[in-house]
Amino acid sequence: MSPLRLFLVVLSCIVLSQGQLQYDYASVISKSLLFYEAQRTGRLPADNRIPWRGDSFLDDKGLSGEDLSGGYFDAGDFVKFGFPLASAMSMLAWGMVDSVEGYKKAGEWENALASLKWGMDYMIKNHPSPNVLYVQVGNGEIDHNYWGRPEDWTTSNGPRPVLQANSSKPASEVAGEQSAAMAAASIAFRQNGNTSYADTLLQHARELYTFATTYRGHYNESFPEVKEFYDSYSGYGDELAWSASWLYRATGEAGYKADYEQWWSDFGLSGRPSEASWDWKQAHVQVLLASVDGAARYRTAAESFCNWVVNTAPKTPKGLVFISMWGSLRHASNVVFLCLQAANAGINQQVYRDFGKQQIDYMLGNSGRSFVIGFGTNPPQRPHHASSSCRDRPAPCDWADFSKPEPNPQVLHGALVGGPDQNDNYVDDREDYVANEVTLDYNAGFQGAVSEMCNIYCRT
Ligand SMILES: *[C@@H]1O[C@H](CO)[C@@H](O)[C@H](O)[C@H]1NC(C)=O
Ligand SMILES: *[C@@H]1O[C@H](CO)[C@@H](O)[C@H](O)[C@H]1NC(C)=O
Ligand SMILES: *[C@@H]1O[C@H](CO)[C@@H](O)[C@H](O)[C@H]1NC(C)=O
Repeated sequence: MSPLRLFLVVLSCIVLSQGQLQYDYASVISKSLLFYEAQRTGRLPADNRIPWRGDSFLDDKGLSGEDLSGGYFDAGDFVKFGFPLASAMSMLAWGMVDSVEGYKKAGEWENALASLKWGMDYMIKNHPSPNVLYVQVGNGEIDHNYWGRPEDWTTSNGPRPVLQANSSKPASEVAGEQSAAMAAASIAFRQNGNTSYADTLLQHARELYTFATTYRGHYNESFPEVKEFYDSYSGYGDELAWSASWLYRATGEAGYKADYEQWWSDFGLSGRPSEASWDWKQAHVQVLLASVDGAARYRTAAESFCNWVVNTAPKTPKGLVFISMWGSLRHASNVVFLCLQAANAGINQQVYRDFGKQQIDYMLGNSGRSFVIGFGTNPPQRPHHASSSCRDRPAPCDWADFSKPEPNPQVLHGALVGGPDQNDNYVDDREDYVANEVTLDYNAGFQGAVSEMCNIYCRT
């Protein structure tokens, strides 16, 4: 072969392989981490990268005056809802434990650790003693009557209301979920050499698990007000199994294995769930145990779930797996993330990876537009998100900014919006919160899935 021919062959190979990789997954990871940064509350560090955000809610306090500032706002609002927060952190930590290389190839490992630590530092605060857990800071109704900047919220009426779970007010779903998040995060920090921080997280995870299992009760019964926002429909059996599984992975202790086996049978977790969400962790348990334990019953359950997702679950005309209209893309991302994990456990690897890439690429542009703010072609510009809807100071910010037709003045980089309906229809309208909400939960499975995509496809 002549040098010129060789050159042309090599060139076309490069072009072809680049052509397959239509989207810059590394950039999506960078932006998703910026979204989490924009959701931070408390005292922001000097290296804050979101110029339109400042300190907020420094007065958040527990019933005994404990400092509960910090953590993350849930969505476009400013409540710290403990259940979806813990779920988002457990998903992010899982992705960081098993797709480290994806983050490293993207050059985002340090930022990912910082975002996980921001959540964990708050969780250390909201669990001040073994049987006390603050499951919520702020009140949904009060909060949703306000539209403006979190920095402008008047705290002159005293600290925001809080919900404290304890031995007489149990909250097994939330305690179990937060235990799982802290156990998973302890693995990520231990792998990074942060032994003492990992030990602290693991100690909290153990205590929360004991709290969840010893004082059993549904958090919707201890705190009826949560029913309007993040009720638990699947009960706590899935969270108990989920946290026992992570504690087993973090410690290798036989007691936790005996426990997840017990919860698996007591709560009938072998069936095929019809979603994977902040509430319903059954599929998560199946997939995690398919890899961590490896017994046939877990592998069979994980495979049935993913085969259902790929072959049977409803799809839109353009091919998006459509599980619910509420955050359709988040539901799709969650099942993609789980099935990529199943692929890594050696179950139908190529099929699940191809499916995952097709779904993620739909969100990044293959459907005709991007659904990630600040990324790609025609991204959403009007998320249902108060702080980014405000102009630069000193302009005021209120309900007029909610209703205005213009794009949000601040670009909320990296947020995945709720998404299209079952016919791929989507309108970029701030007032339509079904399609345009953005949440900690929506980005968690998504970021994990994209990290795994980057693990597979990004070059270093
Ligand atoms: C449990 O928390 C509730 C508030 O949620 C509080 O009224 C009660 O005194 C606490 N009970 C214990 C045993 O700490
Ligand atoms: C983790 O370890 C790195 C490297 O030693 C250090 O820079 C970082 O501050 C540590 N983080 C925590 C949470 O301990
Ligand atoms: C709380 O959630 C559980 C589990 O979904 C459910 O069985 C129970 O009826 C709910 N309780 C209330 C008061 O809504």
